[in-house]
Amino acid sequence: MSIADLRAPARAVNAQTADLTVVGGAGHVGIPLVLSFAAKGLTVNVNDVNEQTLATLKSGRLPFLENGAQPLLAKALADQRLFFTSRPNEISTKGPLIVTIGTPVDEFLNPVRGVVQQCIDELLPHLHDGQLLVLRSTLYPGTTDWIDSYLARKGRRLKLAFCPERISQGHGIEELSRMPQLISATSPEAEREAAALFGAIAPELTLLKPIEAEFAKLFNNAYRYIEFAVTNQFYLIAKSAGLDYKAILQAMKHNYPRAQNIPTPGFAAGPCLVKDTMQLLAFARNEFAFGNAAIMVNEGLPLHIIGDLRRRYDLSKKTVGLLGMAFKAESDDPRASLSYKFKKALAPHARAVLTTDPFVTSDPDLVPLDEVIARSDLLILCTPHRRYKDADFSGKPVVDVWGLLDTANLVY
Ligand SMILES: NC(=O)c1ccc[n+]([C@@H]2O[C@H](COP(=O)([O-])OP(=O)(O)OC[C@H]3O[C@@H](n4cnc5c(N)ncnc54)[C@H](O)[C@@H]3O)[C@@H](O)[C@H]2O)c1
Repeated sequence: MSIADLRAPARAVNAQTADLTVVGGAGHVGIPLVLSFAAKGLTVNVNDVNEQTLATLKSGRLPFLENGAQPLLAKALADQRLFFTSRPNEISTKGPLIVTIGTPVDEFLNPVRGVVQQCIDELLPHLHDGQLLVLRSTLYPGTTDWIDSYLARKGRRLKLAFCPERISQGHGIEELSRMPQLISATSPEAEREAAALFGAIAPELTLLKPIEAEFAKLFNNAYRYIEFAVTNQFYLIAKSAGLDYKAILQAMKHNYPRAQNIPTPGFAAGPCLVKDTMQLLAFARNEFAFGNAAIMVNEGLPLHIIGDLRRRYDLSKKTVGLLGMAFKAESDDPRASLSYKFKKALAPHARAVLTTDPFVTSDPDLVPLDEVIARSDLLILCTPHRRYKDADFSGKPVVDVWGLLDTANLVY
């Protein structure tokens, strides 16, 4: 099957005959993927249980910030390349099916395999043998091979592939067209079809076995998380010596090629990096020293700052303002953001905690930046959104671990 075989004239197509289906297609991974395929002329069945998000997309709006997505959505809708469905029995029976649903860890910090299994169980009666099923969510090592044997035990002969997503959230449109795509499958036919499918949007394909691709994705994310932890630990060591890590980091990186990738310190969390480090920890039966250490350092950083502030101030007489509630700069996504850990951990100690964010729209407690500055005695830069760089903090003391601000009233 080539990509030309997949493409059908948009006019003659409906949800059942679309070129492909993306299950979880209205999510953070789903939307850039859907729009990238549509931009290449394919018709896509956007299948998602969240009917509200589907309605938002259908009306031409994006449910969250995604760079470069708006014009692609408008064009895909105008060209009638998108179909919106919310039930498993509404998937396209013609083309491949790509699953991009969330794959969380549970209260024991272990992966929840049942989420993927349940999704597949619901889809199975509507999939036909020979159809290509691509898993794209981040998976615990061994999951793809396990699903392959699960399908075989049920007497089903689907073509199964695992092609993980590696975009940085919010930059999917640009990165999908620039980054190599990992392709793995449980049969040569499935590998060939998955390669043809992703060859339509990716500049380069890298072939691996499913378990290798599962590890590659998890290692990529855990490595990034560990990088943040290393720089955060350097920050804490420098601070304990009474030194300015920002100046040291600048000197380390200046015209020194081997240090260019060291990130600035900051509150590293979000929906993927910690969770994926935990998946590796679970696989390694908790014997993943760097992963353990990274979680301790990164998750401990807000608590360290609060401990410091409590020694320096009587917080029971102070209102603390938190600047930025998204998990990273220029994002509107508050999932697993350490800003909320700050809020929770400060609540018993501070007179009040106020929160603001220029992008987050899902939190009714947020107040405008001016109000937070006016009412707070102390400010903490939780997320380094660019617009805070030139904000007037009215001489209030500010904590800036990120090194974003040049203001004179930094606490540290
Ligand atoms: N967010 C990222 O930038 C990113 C990057 C790379 C990989 N990943 C991985 O991709 C996966 C998805 O992450 P996400 O951030 O897009 O999650 P998300 O919650 O934004 O999107 C998942 C979507 O799946 C839908 N969904 C859930 N169960 C469904 C079902 N049974 N049928 C149809 N729709 C269903 C949800 O309604 C939601 O819209 C996870 O495994 C994550 O680790 C995420």
